[in-house]
Amino acid sequence: MIPFHSNSRQHDELSEVISESLGAIDLKDDTAFGQTVERFEGMLADYCQVGSAVAVASGTDALIIALRALDAPPGAEVITCDFGFYATAASIIMAGFTPVFVDVAPDRMVMDLDAVRDAISPKTAAIVPVHLFGEAIDMSALQQIADQHSIAIVEDVAQALGARSGGQLVGSFGTASAISFNWSKHLSSFSNGGAVLTNDQEVAARLRSLRGHGNAGGFRHTRMGINSRLNPFEAGLLSAKLPYLDSWIARRREIAARYTTNFASSPDVVTPAATETEAHVYHKYTIRVPDRDGLRKHLADEGVGTLVCYPWLLHDQPAFEGHALRAHSFGRAAEVAAEVISIPVYPELSDGEVDFISETIASYVSSAA
Ligand SMILES: Cc1ncc(COP(=O)(O)O)c(C=O)c1O
Repeated sequence: MIPFHSNSRQHDELSEVISESLGAIDLKDDTAFGQTVERFEGMLADYCQVGSAVAVASGTDALIIALRALDAPPGAEVITCDFGFYATAASIIMAGFTPVFVDVAPDRMVMDLDAVRDAISPKTAAIVPVHLFGEAIDMSALQQIADQHSIAIVEDVAQALGARSGGQLVGSFGTASAISFNWSKHLSSFSNGGAVLTNDQEVAARLRSLRGHGNAGGFRHTRMGINSRLNPFEAGLLSAKLPYLDSWIARRREIAARYTTNFASSPDVVTPAATETEAHVYHKYTIRVPDRDGLRKHLADEGVGTLVCYPWLLHDQPAFEGHALRAHSFGRAAEVAAEVISIPVYPELSDGEVDFISETIASYVSSAA
């Protein structure tokens, strides 16, 4: 059985380093928990080349406080892509704003910048680019659009830690940028974790207040915050793993290149569009095929786990019924949602497993054609 995702091989390989990091937390020292989180915040800010990292309990919380830190009026519009994970859109609503959904770019699975330009209205306060599946959006082009209209950017880096746009790490462009370390991410905690990155010291101070119920000091609450802390044991695990992230990303790129070569003679398998090597960290390797559900069943029968990320467009999620939202454009996104399937890409996969998965897919797709 090749699971779609698993941390067990990684944790097995790193068991000594992880035990050492967790063992170093001094349970008798009341300040040790805070220090463990602060130390991780420092390591993360250095890795991401930003001024500050503010750790929270999840990527969802990170998005909510990153958006609230903008101090935009309630109901302001926030533009994001219609194809993506539920949490991005839900966070916009939970932060008190109105999501405006735009289409994916032609032949891509990330937002179309022309559609972003078209969707801007006098109510637009922010754009949330999601570097989906680990693929960096062209941030210099997006920044130009945002600057022309004096709109903030809050990056959703949940799936793209370590990816670069024009040589610069994603997460370092936005006024604030949200990361997730949930168990499925390429820098993963045991269960949940998140952080907001920023280069603006005032925004960092607001974020620290927002993660503690908006307390400005002395129990005077000046903003509607949330209660969100990164668990120190998660911080200990993440600190142990962060030094390995670049080598894991390199192996993900190798696996992705191997898949793409293996599928070169299967015209019905649409592989992720080639981008500059450093622009993609392959948090997910997501292909498009005509008979996605049939292929998924076939792979399951052959012992290969897969995931459909994501079968529904965000504007169409039942949870959002009754909430203000605007579906600006989604024709290409709907086609993508009907055809995508994500296949295993974690660094601990062997070349033999990658070739087995590729052959199983290629033979199913050619027999179905
Ligand atoms: C693109 C994206 N945004 C936000 C989130 C939310 O992160 P979390 O699960 O840590 O709350 C996720 C998590 O899967 C995600 O993939």
